Amino acid sequence: MSDVESFVRFCESEFGSAVMDREAAYIKQYVAADDRILDVGCGIGSLEERFTDYDIVGIDISEAMVKTARQRTPAPFLVGDVRTLPARTDAVDAVVFVATLEFISEIDAVLEEATRVLRPDGVLVAVILNTRSEYVQSNLQREGSYFQRMVHRDSEALADRVLNAIDGTREYFLGIADETVVESSDPTTAAVTAVVGTPNSNSK
Ligand SMILES: C[S@@+](CC[C@H](N)C(=O)[O-])C[C@H]1O[C@@H](n2cnc3c(N)ncnc32)[C@H](O)[C@@H]1O
Repeated sequence: MSDVESFVRFCESEFGSAVMDREAAYIKQYVAADDRILDVGCGIGSLEERFTDYDIVGIDISEAMVKTARQRTPAPFLVGDVRTLPARTDAVDAVVFVATLEFISEIDAVLEEATRVLRPDGVLVAVILNTRSEYVQSNLQREGSYFQRMVHRDSEALADRVLNAIDGTREYFLGIADETVVESSDPTTAAVTAVVGTPNSNSK
């Protein structure tokens, strides 16, 4: 099964859809509908499907992901690399990463580019798979899992790197029990850690 096929299968499952709903609801706390939002590493556009009334552009390095995203959702999608975002300096209100940063190696260059395009009081929202959780650990060990491509397998350390580029906070959410989404803010069980904040003097 191709990456796109397995993403479509996940996102169309009841469980995958509940995960994406919860992540979208979390991100909506930090953005307004008229904000210019870049969703970097948008995959097949699951977030855009849930942001229909928002000014959001999805960007992904994979042509296959972007092609599928365009077929599924009428939002603008671009093929592009996070290290060279197609946006002017200080032009964007929000940059969002959902389960993307942990798959990219040159994290400092990525954060430099994300904070370049953000206006000084713009918001960066990074939703990162929590490697302390049972859900992420079991997927890391599962043969053929996309999670095995994770470059950063210590989400605490990755969140710290993000917090070096922004003035922000770290939270945990999205508990998973038996393929059901439950509320959890426990750092050892929540499937996701989120880092949210504005560019700081290290980055601007
Ligand atoms: C685990 S998927 C997450 C997709 C989507 N955000 C979601 O939650 O459904 C990670 C995505 O990051 C994309 N990606 C990896 N490296 C990238 C890069 N350098 N620039 C842009 N996108 C990248 C991959 O193609 C993939 O679609």
